[in-house]
Amino acid sequence: MSIMSFPDRGNWGKSAWRGNCSGHVYKELFERLKPGVFVDPMVGSGTSVEVAKEMGIEAYGLDLHSGFNAVRDSILLAVGKPADLCISHPPYGAMIVYSGNVWGKADPNDLSRCPSDEDFHEKMQLVLMNQREATNSGGYYGTIIGDWRRKGVYTSYQAEMIARMPKGELAAVIIKAQHNCTSDRKTYGLMKLPHILHEYILLWQKKAVPVLLMLRDLAHQQYSRLTGTWKNIVKCILMELGGKSDLSAIYQEIEKSAPDKLASNPHWKAKIRQTLNQNEDLFRPVATGVWAIA
Ligand SMILES: C[S@@+](CC[C@H](N)C(=O)[O-])C[C@H]1O[C@@H](n2cnc3c(N)ncnc32)[C@H](O)[C@@H]1O
Repeated sequence: MSIMSFPDRGNWGKSAWRGNCSGHVYKELFERLKPGVFVDPMVGSGTSVEVAKEMGIEAYGLDLHSGFNAVRDSILLAVGKPADLCISHPPYGAMIVYSGNVWGKADPNDLSRCPSDEDFHEKMQLVLMNQREATNSGGYYGTIIGDWRRKGVYTSYQAEMIARMPKGELAAVIIKAQHNCTSDRKTYGLMKLPHILHEYILLWQKKAVPVLLMLRDLAHQQYSRLTGTWKNIVKCILMELGGKSDLSAIYQEIEKSAPDKLASNPHWKAKIRQTLNQNEDLFRPVATGVWAIA
């Protein structure tokens, strides 16, 4: 089943630990994946490790609250051996702030204290690479994460993670029903859009590929996504302009409709010309400086 729902969290870990996860989720993952060695680099109140040990699995739990920073320290070095399964359960952005709130003093390395979503996405990519490095070839690494809507902005942390990791290693996306949410339901009463009552369990299976090759493939994956986006932006604008236009009108339209894209690329006009020139299957010149959809 790609859907899990456990209203009861069991006796593992601490029920008072905010944002904890039902032990039954880990139990089911362990029953399916049968790891010999399990690592949780953000163990929180210890739920996952308690379940694993009860099932006779060698298990290691790390967390910032006990001095391990998954954004700086190698999981593999901290544990001393690779895992068959390495699952993290990070904060969802700043939905629940951990350091200085759930435990100890405020710590800038705390993933629930990232200054922006972009910073969190980037750090979580590093954490997932760290988890991958700590996993045996053929083993699984993954994460448990929800989405967050606040002040009208919907952030899908899981979508960012899938986009930033090797697509050839993605093994499963499981929907996990969320129970006992502490958010104030009254504020959702009049909303058009549904209150989020699910999380995701993302699993990747590590392939026997050297890390440099994996990083090269990942860079290629990101590059083709970026160039693909440019192709679609230019084609979409040409479609809006009736299928044919001169360059200055294309520039003007793009300036209006894709300001984010332009802010990150100061040579955007050259990028548009390059996109038009390099995609004969999509665009054709009809006169000097005038382009049409092919
Ligand atoms: C959602 S909680 C994990 C809850 C756990 N699954 C349980 O059932 O108790 C997220 C954890 O991530 C930890 N954390 C935040 N930033 C971290 C970092 N940079 N490195 C390691 N752990 C971090 C927090 O201290 C917190 O305990």
